[in-house]
Amino acid sequence: MTWMNLLRCSFRRRDALVAGDGTSLPDGAVGAVTGVGAVNGAVNGAVGGLGDFLRFFRSWVTNPLRVAAIAPSGDPLARLMTQEIAPFDGPIIELGPGTGVFTRALLARGVAESDLTLIEYGGEFLPGLQRRFPEARIVQMDAAELSGAGLFEGCPVGAVISGLPLLSMSPAKVEGILAGAFSHMREGGAVYQFTYGPRCPVPRPILDRLGLEASHIGGTVRNLPPAAVYRISRRAD
Ligand SMILES: C[S@@+](CC[C@H](N)C(=O)[O-])C[C@H]1O[C@@H](n2cnc3c(N)ncnc32)[C@H](O)[C@@H]1O
Repeated sequence: MTWMNLLRCSFRRRDALVAGDGTSLPDGAVGAVTGVGAVNGAVNGAVGGLGDFLRFFRSWVTNPLRVAAIAPSGDPLARLMTQEIAPFDGPIIELGPGTGVFTRALLARGVAESDLTLIEYGGEFLPGLQRRFPEARIVQMDAAELSGAGLFEGCPVGAVISGLPLLSMSPAKVEGILAGAFSHMREGGAVYQFTYGPRCPVPRPILDRLGLEASHIGGTVRNLPPAAVYRISRRAD
């Protein structure tokens, strides 16, 4: 990456709640969001208040396939998901940030908030994300449209952290999401994906078609449900 690109890639608008086509979302979209739930704290070890848990739970009731968990991810899982991230890996994409548990862990790893692009489909999570991460670029869009989004021209990303429920998506959609993620990825970058299932949530034929490989890099029972984390990267050949 050139110095000019580095400077461009480091720049982010302060007030950056944008729609997938790059237009600003109205201020009215922004409301109050409380911290991560006390119930969640007890269940998943995350920091915060009951509000997040209730909001998350309501989202799950309304949209079980999209949200695919009854409580936000816990801090132990967030640490596993971000364990290989270094401060200078930015720009970084987070897919399906929800309440921002992994986002907070990325900041704890030393990544600059302005180096984060958060791609979230669920409008109910946007106000909380913008309030908590005002320096991040927050985009409301389907992660499957990432490849055509024109968000990272000249600024390849160092990593993609994904909280997406891949197991409740069609294989075609999973392939589209991964193809899009790697279309923006610089050499050596990886997608980090968690799953509640017994194996990598990306089927082998999809990995093969895209020239990718998956490695299990950890798991935790201190999450409801227990979760495993995979690193998905380009094959060396
Ligand atoms: C299992 S939740 C993970 C949330 C986050 N890790 C947390 O603990 O708050 C899945 C998240 O992915 C989002 N999501 C699901 N499908 C999506 C898609 N196609 N594009 C973008 N976001 C999506 C949901 O709205 C939800 O925020």
